[in-house]
Amino acid sequence: MIVNTEEEYQGIQQANEAVGKVLREMKLRARPGMSTLELDQIGFELLKQYGARSAPKKDYDFPGHTCISLNQEACHGIPKADRILKEGDLVNIDVSAERNGFYGDNGSSFILGEDHQNLQSLVDASLDILLLALRKIKPGIKIAAIGGYIEKLAKARKFAVVKNICGHGIGRRLHEEPTEIPCYRDRYNKERFRKNSVIAVETFISTKATFVHQASDGWTLQPQDDSYVAQHEHTVIVRDNGVEILTASNGF
Ligand code: CO
Ligand code: CO
Repeated sequence: MIVNTEEEYQGIQQANEAVGKVLREMKLRARPGMSTLELDQIGFELLKQYGARSAPKKDYDFPGHTCISLNQEACHGIPKADRILKEGDLVNIDVSAERNGFYGDNGSSFILGEDHQNLQSLVDASLDILLLALRKIKPGIKIAAIGGYIEKLAKARKFAVVKNICGHGIGRRLHEEPTEIPCYRDRYNKERFRKNSVIAVETFISTKATFVHQASDGWTLQPQDDSYVAQHEHTVIVRDNGVEILTASNGF
């Protein structure tokens, strides 16, 4: 959406503040021994407190309130009673929700406790690159240029980017125009960022694989090899002097 009125600004701001707080709290409360279903239940209760409804559940009939993906899973992991968090797991939580007709979206990968799998540098890359990419976004900048910049930064750290999952426009729905904000230079994409548009920018940084595939559960996306993928996501408004981060309440 394009934010034109103060009412729209308040609406989108509050929806995103809510999902940011829920993500932050879920990360703080994740513990070894807890199931991903328990963690999702915490997310559900928090969303309810903020007057928000899970977007994947409401709009896509996703079997959970938040997406919780572990280790080799890249995204859209289904919360389950028999998926138990362990020390050293690479965990990704993605929280998106609707509040008063406006949508918010954010996500974060992190290592649970001790980094037994040596993945902290991958997690750091996904966050650093997101923040660097956001600093380059202004009205008129090509979406493809930002994708190219994300890929360049990932390669400089000896990582790859996943090409078939993307950031996106957001606002009155979870997924709006522009439908694809990829992590690579898509030379067919001639679109430019528009002033006052609301977008969710996500980095999908990988140890090797550049594509993810749907698992047999019909939801989880994962590489076909033994790669790991880390993601960070903020929802922002594109302003003349740079982006205004709407999900800053997530704490990163
Ligand atoms: Co998301
Ligand atoms: Co998103």
